[in-house]
Amino acid sequence: MNETVFALPGNESLAGSLAKQLNAETGRLILRRFPDGESYVRVESSVEDKPAIVVAALREPDDKFLPLVFLAAALEDLGAKKIILVAPYLAYMRQDRRFKKGEAVTSTCFARLISERFDALVTVDPHLHRRSSLDEIYTIPSVVLHAASLISVWIREKIENPLLIGPDSESEQWVKSVAEVAGAPYVVLEKVRRGDREVEISIPHVDRWREKTPVLVDDIISTARTMIETVIHLKRAGMPAPVCVGVHAVFAGNAYEDLLAAGAGGVYTCDTIPHRSNSISVLPLLTGGVLYLQEKL
Ligand code: R5P
Repeated sequence: MNETVFALPGNESLAGSLAKQLNAETGRLILRRFPDGESYVRVESSVEDKPAIVVAALREPDDKFLPLVFLAAALEDLGAKKIILVAPYLAYMRQDRRFKKGEAVTSTCFARLISERFDALVTVDPHLHRRSSLDEIYTIPSVVLHAASLISVWIREKIENPLLIGPDSESEQWVKSVAEVAGAPYVVLEKVRRGDREVEISIPHVDRWREKTPVLVDDIISTARTMIETVIHLKRAGMPAPVCVGVHAVFAGNAYEDLLAAGAGGVYTCDTIPHRSNSISVLPLLTGGVLYLQEKL
């Protein structure tokens, strides 16, 4: 029996495309707020004995979390066979340690809450910083997909004479693999984060790369300070306007506008979070991920 694909508001386009790829039904759902701010959730599709897939990019997760959990609970009540969360952007991956006494380790706590409500998880490039696998915090099966190959192909097709630039040592492995497939050279910069919105970048000698088009690649663009600082430095060093490519278009506040205003020669992202910069679709990855998971479950 075919599965049903539901979308949290804002994810309808990707969920609809995923349903088509899977030859699945598109789920009908009413999700709204009462005047007092509480959530109302009603599943209108019949899901009994069928797998249900919920597509939810978890940018600004606090507002989305309760509706997501209520939806999962309603699907369970209605007898859905398995409930799979497709979160192309997975939130709460950064605070993976207690830096100061009394801090909540939110990544662990969030993973526990999601694991209680869903049977499996599909996601793209989660920010695994000090952890090596989602299995360290999620107790449900998960499929982790990587956008690197899609980004490589996009760069190969769209950018002439690219030089890939990773903003910090953490990004090295990732940038290296994108560069290899794109058939382009790469450099990795040094970054010192001085606060939530303050980042310092040090650029190695760029003289030998002056003829190239710099392409900054990063997994997350959040405040965009990392990319903004890099763009400013590269331009000061006489490089052409850098093209900025990110997997997850988090773009807190005016980050997107600020990045363009800083002189980026275009900002392009994957569609893991709906945003006007989306240029690279992760749909093929998600489709493969769900099919793989369904065989395993
Ligand atoms: C950091 O570890 C990540 O790879 C990104 O460099 C970071 O999340 C970017 O953040 P922001 O856009 O706030 O500088």
